[in-house]
Amino acid sequence: MKNRSLVRKLAKEAEATSDPLQWFEKLYDKADKEGISIPWDNGVANPNLVKFCERHHIRGEGRKALIIGCGFGHDAEYLASIGFQVTAFDLSPSAIGEAKKRFPNSPVNYRVEDLFNLPNPKIGAHPFVIESYTLQALARELVAKAIGVIASLVETDGQLLVITQSRNESEAVGDLPRPLTRTDVLQFENEGLQILEFEDYTDDEDPPIRRFRILFQRTI
Ligand SMILES: C[S@@+](CC[C@H](N)C(=O)[O-])C[C@H]1O[C@@H](n2cnc3c(N)ncnc32)[C@H](O)[C@@H]1O
Repeated sequence: MKNRSLVRKLAKEAEATSDPLQWFEKLYDKADKEGISIPWDNGVANPNLVKFCERHHIRGEGRKALIIGCGFGHDAEYLASIGFQVTAFDLSPSAIGEAKKRFPNSPVNYRVEDLFNLPNPKIGAHPFVIESYTLQALARELVAKAIGVIASLVETDGQLLVITQSRNESEAVGDLPRPLTRTDVLQFENEGLQILEFEDYTDDEDPPIRRFRILFQRTI
């Protein structure tokens, strides 16, 4: 466990203001200036993404991919390494600055962008979109809106991979990270996406964490 209480404190303070997302930059700025660690940064690509891509023998072959809330860029670099032409964005200038520092020769197009204020059509719709752990970090009242925007970034016939902590409908949401329910993630279906694969599993982290990993495809 790394700095979970600091994260929760910053999030709680921010969510009581008119700018509920400001805590991400505050946290990354602290990491930069004070050397504190970021709880979701393990310095490697997310194993839940890597395992999925390996199991499905996914190769980019020059196709475009888009990463939502990319943090320090390890997932983006992984997708680039298997042949995708990757755009990766994050709200936090400090996170994007650190991604560029970690990967100075990267082919990834790193951008500072707010999911809720994207300069469409500059970002545009993509054939492969990855959302891991951003929805679970948002204030609950922002989740439905975020789902609508993320879905709009998937082109027709394109796919969206969502990886998130999960819970039963009857379980309380609790503190950050806020696991999503099946009802939450099924909102993607209302946005023109169809489920191709739905995994509800416990990963092999210590302690193990229950997750959903869902592959959607845009049908309309
Ligand atoms: C919990 S972290 C997960 C980071 C990364 N996806 C991962 O799996 O390690 C959530 C990320 O989403 C970013 N984020 C939060 N709200 C955002 C928004 N509205 N637009 C873009 N990025 C956002 C945060 O700055 C943070 O880097």
